Amino acid sequence: MKIEVIENNKILVNSSKENFEIHPLWLRERAKTEDLMDKLTEQRIYDPSALNKSIKIKKANLKADMLNIEFTDGIFSEFKVSELCKELDTEKMKKGPVDEKIMWDSKLNYRPTAKFNNDYESKETFEMLKKFHKYGFVIITGVPTKNNYIVDFANSIGVIRPTNFGVYFDVKSIPDYNDLAYTPRHLYPHTDNPYRKPVPCIQLLHCIENEVSGGLSTLVDGFAVADCLRENFKEYFDILTSTKVRFRFIDKEIILENWGELIEIDENEKVKQIRFNTKVDYVPHLKNENLEKFYKAREKMGELCSSKNFELKFKLMPGDLLMMDNYRTLHGRTAYDASEGMRHLQGCYIDYDSSEGKLMHLLRKFG
Ligand SMILES: [Fe+2]
Repeated sequence: MKIEVIENNKILVNSSKENFEIHPLWLRERAKTEDLMDKLTEQRIYDPSALNKSIKIKKANLKADMLNIEFTDGIFSEFKVSELCKELDTEKMKKGPVDEKIMWDSKLNYRPTAKFNNDYESKETFEMLKKFHKYGFVIITGVPTKNNYIVDFANSIGVIRPTNFGVYFDVKSIPDYNDLAYTPRHLYPHTDNPYRKPVPCIQLLHCIENEVSGGLSTLVDGFAVADCLRENFKEYFDILTSTKVRFRFIDKEIILENWGELIEIDENEKVKQIRFNTKVDYVPHLKNENLEKFYKAREKMGELCSSKNFELKFKLMPGDLLMMDNYRTLHGRTAYDASEGMRHLQGCYIDYDSSEGKLMHLLRKFG
């Protein structure tokens, strides 16, 4: 993308896609003089809607990366050309700080891992968060196995989202359980808590003890499974992306419900969110033929998620902390024998808002 000044008062953009003139008001509301924008927060201290809509560019001058503009209302402001170009690439901006997502299946040889570093302002934390955004999961090794340490970790890269399971939860086999996670049973690949409003974005699971021979952790790239369905089983893909299902959690104290598609797509038909948790889904009574189609489609999706082609299987060791994108990555566990010893994980949720905000902050520092 290239920016040029024509006739001293027109700013033209030339890109491989299109050539256009930047609207003067678009630039004017980005003017950063002290009277217009608070220095500390970069927030406007005036209402841009009150600007005279006929403001034009009186004079413009381009030198290297700096564009100096005098507007017809008497405001002078300078703009960094590189920053303008970045913002003008709307599609790239929308993708967020890490635009390239890498889809994977069980043939994934590279495991996104990171060594624990308690300096959360470090380049290592930046690299770790980038891996998470690219792959939808990352395993951090060597995290202190102190009780509740997950709370410190989570609050250092984001802000914990407490739920009715508490600020954090202990995943171990207990007699008085309110979720099958707290038993030694096999857990099919699933996304967590689709019954919440909103569904928690990121799950953290920290292994404190693992003395059992079973209880292997499983992970599946739900976006890759959805794309496989779209390519090979279009009818199934269509019913899973068009049927809103009710998800429900119930215990002695609370009932939680939310509705959503098993595969949610955006306006460009790109997969946005996976909700797959056959323990807690209730499809509404559709026309019989659609219901039959839905059941076959859900079965196929489950089959792909549990297949050797898509499922990663590994053992979490004490000190490993698994960070998963709960809108993309499904997780599960093989059954284990609780009499063999302790298997104790601690988990919690954080939202994209915080981890992505942290990544953008570190990108400003190291990017
Ligand atoms: Fe889970």
